[in-house]
Amino acid sequence: MELRKINTEDAMAQWEYTTVLPADENGLTNPFHGVSYDEYIHRVLPEMISYEHPVNMPDWFVPETFYYLWDNDCLVGEFRIRHHLTEALRSGGGHIGYSIRRDLRGKGYGTRGLELTIRIAKQIVPEDEIYLRVNKDNIASQKVMLKNGAYLAGEDETYYFMRIPK
Ligand SMILES: CC(C)(COP(=O)(O)OP(=O)(O)OC[C@H]1O[C@@H](n2cnc3c(N)ncnc32)[C@H](O)[C@@H]1OP(=O)(O)O)[C@@H](O)C(=O)NCCC(=O)NCCS
Repeated sequence: MELRKINTEDAMAQWEYTTVLPADENGLTNPFHGVSYDEYIHRVLPEMISYEHPVNMPDWFVPETFYYLWDNDCLVGEFRIRHHLTEALRSGGGHIGYSIRRDLRGKGYGTRGLELTIRIAKQIVPEDEIYLRVNKDNIASQKVMLKNGAYLAGEDETYYFMRIPK
């Protein structure tokens, strides 16, 4: 199993994943739900790649890199790393967001994918801890975080705020 950074060679598999991923599932947002392959190739993919080194983006925009989890030649999930915190991210979505293909959930991919993502995030983020946020009713994602060494750092009505020490 490996994580591959978003790229042009894997465009078809990445598009198939992105266009099916819901616009919002448990707080993981995807503005590209339903995008056509043509639009993905010409607009969305270059935009997603550019997020790692943003150009002409508003001040609040934090560099973000998309990775895909591959099991042999099958793309099974997406993992995103935001490179550093802002006040909004600190009390919001944190550093990492992820999802696994609906028909492949419950097979350990989320746990393994987060483990690989944390290894990369540890090299990128300047903060001492990796910040994560999860809906209180999202048991699967809470387990994925806990199995990767996360602890409960806070909560509000809707979310648990978890952190993984570097
Ligand atoms: C959260 C998500 C990434 C988990 O991925 P996954 O590949 O199914 O996770 P794993 O197979 O590693 O399972 C982790 C644990 O959750 C459990 N689990 C999986 N689906 C579950 C469900 N629907 N309800 C309760 N527990 C569940 C697994 O049994 C496992 O626990 P165990 O080790 O005690 O057996 C996946 O469900 C998903 O993509 N959800 C939609 C997007 C999302 O919620 N992203 C996270 C936002 S914080």
